This record gives sequence, C-alpha cells and structure tokens, in this order.
Amino acid sequence: MRFTTALAVAAAAIGSAIAQDTVLLGFNSGASDDTGKAKTQEDFEAEFKTAKNLQGAPGNFSAIRLYSNIQWNTPDTPISAFPAAIATNTKLLLGIWASGTDNIDNELKALNAAVKEYGTKLTDLVIGISVGSEDLYRVSEPGIRNEAGVGNSAETIVNFIKTAREQLSTTTLKDKPITHVDTWTAWVNTSNKAVIDNIDFLAVNAFPFYESELDNKIDNAGSLLSSALSAVDGVAGGKDVWITETGWAYTGPAFGAADATLDNAGTYWKDVGCAIFGKRNVFWYTLKDANPDNKVKFAITDNLSTKPRFDLSCSEKDLPSPTPLSSNSTSSSSNTSSSDNSNPSASGSGSNNALASTSATAKPSGTGAGAATSVSLLNSMAMALSVVFAVATWAL
Ligand SMILES: *[C@@H]1O[C@H](CO)[C@@H](O)[C@H](O)[C@H]1NC(C)=O
Ligand SMILES: *[C@@H]1O[C@H](CO)[C@@H](O)[C@H](O)[C@H]1NC(C)=O
Ligand SMILES: *[C@@H]1O[C@H](CO)[C@@H](O)[C@H](O)[C@H]1NC(C)=O
Ligand SMILES: *[C@@H]1O[C@H](CO)[C@@H](O)[C@H](O)[C@H]1NC(C)=O
Ligand SMILES: *[C@@H]1O[C@H](CO)[C@@H](O)[C@H](O)[C@H]1NC(C)=O
Repeated sequence: MRFTTALAVAAAAIGSAIAQDTVLLGFNSGASDDTGKAKTQEDFEAEFKTAKNLQGAPGNFSAIRLYSNIQWNTPDTPISAFPAAIATNTKLLLGIWASGTDNIDNELKALNAAVKEYGTKLTDLVIGISVGSEDLYRVSEPGIRNEAGVGNSAETIVNFIKTAREQLSTTTLKDKPITHVDTWTAWVNTSNKAVIDNIDFLAVNAFPFYESELDNKIDNAGSLLSSALSAVDGVAGGKDVWITETGWAYTGPAFGAADATLDNAGTYWKDVGCAIFGKRNVFWYTLKDANPDNKVKFAITDNLSTKPRFDLSCSEKDLPSPTPLSSNSTSSSSNTSSSDNSNPSASGSGSNNALASTSATAKPSGTGAGAATSVSLLNSMAMALSVVFAVATWAL
C-alpha cells in the first residue's frame, strides 16, 4: 500500500507537471505597423485580442513574440506591448534586438524599467527571452549573398547572452529561459555552436516560402519544413526547439517555385501549421504585417478582423518525413529580409526585421512531429494514470 501510495503521488506529480506545461500557440509582433508607424498600447491590445478570438482557430493563440523591449523610434522607452499584454493576459517571448550594435544596454535598460514599473504582473507573463534574431544568418555566406543586412557574430551574441543573464539575475526574470532566434542554416553551422551551448532552448525561423534555391512549391512545403526542423533537432543536444517564425505569404512576388497566393497560404496553414500546432511551441508569421519594405505580405487576417482570410480549423496531421538538406541551399530564402533587417538595426528596434526572415529553413524532425504527438498523448496518459492510482489508494 505504501508502494501504491508512492506510485499515486508520483503519477499525480507527473500528470500535473505535464498538464501545466502547455504547448504554446502564438504570433509574432513587430514594434511598428507596415507603414512604419510605431504601435501604441491600443494597437497592441487590439492585436492581442484578435489573436485570442480568431474564428475557427484550432487553439488559444495567447502568446506573442516581440523583437525588442524598446518602443519604436525611441532610444530606450519600454515598449507599449508590455501594458497591452498585462491588460489582455497575453504571454510574452521577449526579444532583445542585437544586430548592428556592440552592446544591448538600451534593451536591458528598457526591460529593467518595465520590470520596475509593472512587477510580477509583467514578469509572470514572460515565457522566455531571446537575445537576438537572425543575427548569425545575416553574417553568413547566404545572408550576405541575399543582402540580408547587418548582423552579428556568434562571439558577440554569446557575450550578449552572458550580459543579459547577469543583469537579469537580480530581477524576477532571473529564472526565465533564454534563447536566440535564428535560421536553421545558422543553427547547423558549427561556427555557431557556442551560442547553442549558452542558451536554454533553440528558436528557429523557417520559411519554405523563401527557399527559392530548392523546389519550394507549396506541395513540398511540409517536407522542407520537416527537414529543417530535423536538422536543428540534430544539433540541439537535447534542448527544446521552438518555431519562432513560419508562415506563407498570401500576396506579393513569388520566391522560386513558391507562389504568394491566398490558396497557398491557407494550404500551408492546413498542411503544415496543423501538423505542428500543439506539438511544438509555434509563433506563426503572422497576424499583422510589420515590415514596410517587404513586398510579400503574410497577415492571416485583414486589419485585425477576427474573421481570417482562410479557414483555420485543423484535423489531425503529421509532417512528412525529413530529407537531408544542404545548408547552403537553405540560404536561399530570402532576399526579403534584407530590407527588414537593416531598418531595425538602425533604430535599435526589431520590428522590421520581423519579417524577413528569410532564411528559412527549418526542419522538423520526423521525431519532431512524432514526439509532439506523444507529448499530448503522454499528457493524457499521465493524467489517466494519476487518477487510476489515486482511486487505488483510496480503495486500499
Ligand atoms: C486563452 O488564454 C488566455 C491566457 O492564458 C486566457 O486568459 C483565456 O481565457 C484563454 N481562452 C480560452 C478560450 O481558453
Ligand atoms: C557559417 O558561419 C560562418 C561564421 O559566421 C560564416 O562565415 C559561414 O558563411 C557560415 N556558413 C554557412 C553555409 O552559412
Ligand atoms: C535581393 O534584393 C536586392 C534589392 O532588392 C537585389 O539587388 C538582389 O539581387 C536580391 N538578391 C537575390 C539573391 O535575389
Ligand atoms: C482598420 O481598423 C481600424 C480600427 O478599427 C479602422 O480605424 C480602420 O478604418 C480600418 N481600416 C480599414 C482599411 O478597414
Ligand atoms: C551555395 O550556393 C550558391 C548559389 O547557388 C553558390 O554561389 C555558392 O558557391 C554555394 N556555396 C557553397 C559553400 O556550396
């Protein structure tokens, strides 16, 4: 009976731990709108509310990824997304803009000021902090070839990560996991291994849409994403891999075999989005476009309407099996980013870059999809087990 009780306790503990560890669904949110205008608190609130109320959505899009802690066009004012997140109970993956700079002092200044002002109302909503976004891709051979803009080296990013950890260690953000966002090509590049060693989980931006050097027609999108995720899982050393940007443009010029059409954007959601939602943490690109310089547009809804451009409902899906990709090929992705990135770095805020991404590559692993499935399965199994054992204990 003691044994049974111990089992019951153990099973209950597993059940609740996994149950609380819910898989995140979210969107990216730039600091400006796509005319380059700074977003106000009202703008952010409207965006965060729409995210949670999308008709037909397969889950609760209650998380948002930011690119910067700094209000657009200011030197170090905390971004108005913070009070908006508090007002709407929205979880935040924070971003520290780290390109084109030799320090992150203003980013940390803005964040520390916000922590002082809002306290745990803000910090309780923080699910992680990314130091940088695609900085390594932009200084890589494909990034340079695609004119992706100013980036930063692995060495500098590692130093920024250490600085952030140190400066946040005396605040209520001290236990929040730290990451860096980059393309799959940057993650699999052994020159960047020190970054992986210094973060708590990996975050990958992956856009088959931009992988114009591959046969990136919509029919191949799931396979390209699967391959990119699988490649990142392969170098992650057992650390979690989040998808911080993926999506398909609904309008604008084609990239290689990838046509930017409403049909394709809807197909990408159904075939690829539905295969990863609930299995990995995913921040879709995007709810509201943020980059004036990007001719392709990704927003899944017009003007923050809760009625999306295409049906968002999901049925059970898995990604195709991964195939090996050359990391050079991935590079292809995007030219787009170039414009994006250059802007933000100038101002120190990341919104422009948001879009760009480019590079695109991500790859999921076969295991990714499979593993994901098993997370939810495991979750319900653990819950069921804990109930069974609890009953057994009572009976004894
Ligand atoms: C979605 O998540 C938010 C934040 O966690 C919560 O406030 C809201 O009630 C949830 N909505 C639904 C429909 O579950
Ligand atoms: C790998 O990273 C190094 C250092 O940033 C860079 O010079 C190189 O171009 C990268 N290789 C690829 C294929 O991206
Ligand atoms: C990217 O765009 C720039 C300017 O729009 C252009 O000059 C450059 O050739 C493009 N690069 C690729 C790889 O398409
Ligand atoms: C978008 O929504 C805002 C806020 O509701 C409104 O002021 C604006 O006129 C709308 N724009 C379009 C093009 O519908
Ligand atoms: C990658 O592809 C580009 C364009 O096809 C080519 O110019 C470059 O030499 C390739 N780099 C490597 C390392 O294969």
